[in-house]
Amino acid sequence: MKVPLFDLTRQYQTLREEMLKKIDETISSGQVILGENVKEIEKKVADYIGVKHAIGVASGSDALVLALRAMGIKEGDHVVTTPYTFFATASAIMRLGALPIFVDVDEETFNISLDEVEKTLKKDDKVKAVIPVHLFGRSVDMQRLKEICDNHNVKILEDAAQSIGSECVVNEKKVKTGSIGDAGILSFFPTKNLGAYGDAGMVLTNSDEIDEEVRMLRVHGSKKKYVHDEIGYNSRMDELQAAILNVKFPHLDEWIEKRINAAKNYAKLFEKHEVQVVYPTVPSDKSYVFHQYVIKVDRRDELREYLTSQGVGTSIYYPIPLHLQRCFSYLGYKKGDLPVSEKLSQETLALPVFPEITFEEQEYVVEKITEFYSRRKGL
Ligand SMILES: Cc1ncc(COP(=O)(O)O)c(C=O)c1O
Repeated sequence: MKVPLFDLTRQYQTLREEMLKKIDETISSGQVILGENVKEIEKKVADYIGVKHAIGVASGSDALVLALRAMGIKEGDHVVTTPYTFFATASAIMRLGALPIFVDVDEETFNISLDEVEKTLKKDDKVKAVIPVHLFGRSVDMQRLKEICDNHNVKILEDAAQSIGSECVVNEKKVKTGSIGDAGILSFFPTKNLGAYGDAGMVLTNSDEIDEEVRMLRVHGSKKKYVHDEIGYNSRMDELQAAILNVKFPHLDEWIEKRINAAKNYAKLFEKHEVQVVYPTVPSDKSYVFHQYVIKVDRRDELREYLTSQGVGTSIYYPIPLHLQRCFSYLGYKKGDLPVSEKLSQETLALPVFPEITFEEQEYVVEKITEFYSRRKGL
């Protein structure tokens, strides 16, 4: 049996007719840049997340840059974030000439440690913003983070690239990640929980000023054609990608439910096989939407090699924490500075998870992991 880490083709088969029709309609309309499809997905996502504005841009990476800039982050500012995330979270800070301040993560949740954030804000008054990442689809405790940031007059940009649909409780109300900070961002990279068939992203905000600024920045800093108030970017969400997202959007909650079910199945299988891996607990609410299903294991690289030889796709998120990346070496971090992130980068392994994965495929994955560890014990 072969179990891929992710399979885009299964989902496409179920939506193919509708998708092709919508793509044809879009191209036939002649309106292929910032047309009705972009407006439609912006409205749908804003309503779904519970924010006043959603602005379609070219990618999640661009969404981070545009949102930070619209929030007023500029050269010399400090921005606190996690080193245990995808590169784009931190590169966005550098692109504006600001300085990323990496703080360590929590070993249980893999998310930024709020104690560390608080300590940093107490001693560094150049910090103007914090970027929490709802990693693997698990929401950060936004109630507490908001209290910490409000106390220090620091802004929040939520990186919800991996967490569309996940919820957390703020002021005793269930709210969606991406709606709590001054702004939030989404990525529609093809493998995300809501994925396009190319690059696309979105900025989310309740602020009219941020909305206006991002809309201007995405079209070269211009509100009126060929009149440029600022130097912006060419970063529009593509009309064809928006068309694809409009076809997929009605299925999002059902797909999230299926991911959560797959995570429950893994937990049952690990329990049954009594295999020595640390696997995530599945909460009863929607605080974890399992964009990735990540376990912690001994002899990770050997296990990965074994699983590859047995036809099981896996991935390592992330093998080098950002503070140790060569391109950030001038920041002066060294090995041992952020020990939890460094440890996780050696121990974590992402297993196949996607809405269409079958129970038999999951059984096979867990059997192969069990087999690897029993061989070692000589059982
Ligand atoms: C946490 C995080 N932030 C930002 C991004 C960037 O998104 P994109 O790939 O759409 O540029 C990604 C996705 O790849 C991500 O996982």
